[in-house]
Amino acid sequence: MRNANNEIGAFHNVCRHRCLKLIDEPKNTGKMIQCPYHYWAYNLLGELKATPFFGGHDIAPPKEFSLEENGLVSVRCETWHDWVFVNIDGKAQDFEVFLQPLKNQIGDLPINKVKPVATIDFGVVNTNWKLLMENFIEPYHVQFVHKTTTNQPLTDHYTISDLHCLGSACDIDETPGEDTATTLAVTSRYLTLFPNFVMGTYAPDQVGVHLNMPMGTGETKQSRVIYVHEDSALSADEVEKLKTLWYNVHKEDHAICERLQQGRLSDVSKMGGYLSPHWEVSVRQFQELVVDATSVHLQSAD
Ligand SMILES: [Fe+2]
Repeated sequence: MRNANNEIGAFHNVCRHRCLKLIDEPKNTGKMIQCPYHYWAYNLLGELKATPFFGGHDIAPPKEFSLEENGLVSVRCETWHDWVFVNIDGKAQDFEVFLQPLKNQIGDLPINKVKPVATIDFGVVNTNWKLLMENFIEPYHVQFVHKTTTNQPLTDHYTISDLHCLGSACDIDETPGEDTATTLAVTSRYLTLFPNFVMGTYAPDQVGVHLNMPMGTGETKQSRVIYVHEDSALSADEVEKLKTLWYNVHKEDHAICERLQQGRLSDVSKMGGYLSPHWEVSVRQFQELVVDATSVHLQSAD
């Protein structure tokens, strides 16, 4: 949440009294967050400020109870431009080290000069978040799945596998034509930061960031924010065209990822499958990162 000093902090969304989920939807809470159950109230720094009638009617709270020790539980949180990263267990590497592979791959694009112009909220997609990530980071499917929305020949693509920054890129020499708002035919980078941060860059100055938020094993919420250079004066019509283009591209991916989810329920999928040693190198790397991440959790559960 954003506090009165315009700083962003992250907290577990759980009241310290009976562990009720405090905030049910993104909103302006005013100066305090009040639990609807017994009206315990926290300020925007997460400090517990009120516990009405906790000790009884007209009776002080018990001496052993301290407001200071019962604030909201904070979560490690860092901000980079328009994007907020949280780390629940607090054990992730130094944030700058974490970002570096992505920064290396973005290249010259002026990421500090982009502004959001539109958001597309896709709601829930009926697939596991990992399938959406794997789909995003390989260029192999583009020529087939996106044949009506993109015009990027497979031969211009290559994969990117730089530590936990995985994806692909497409270098196109020609200057973009007039149809770039309805089909995609520009030099692009399709980049991710493990586990679920996704950033696409599109020459000369467009950036798209989307998040795949797991809601369950077969459900993922997705939204995309479209950014352009702050000096670009896009008309409402041009923004609408960009939204339509990206809506269509994502819908093509959703249809595939939902069928992937269904196929993975088959016993046949237990046999695994073949990944292209050329086009799906970054998918393999992603799967190895998943194994590493979940292995750590299994070890700590022992
Ligand atoms: Fe795709």
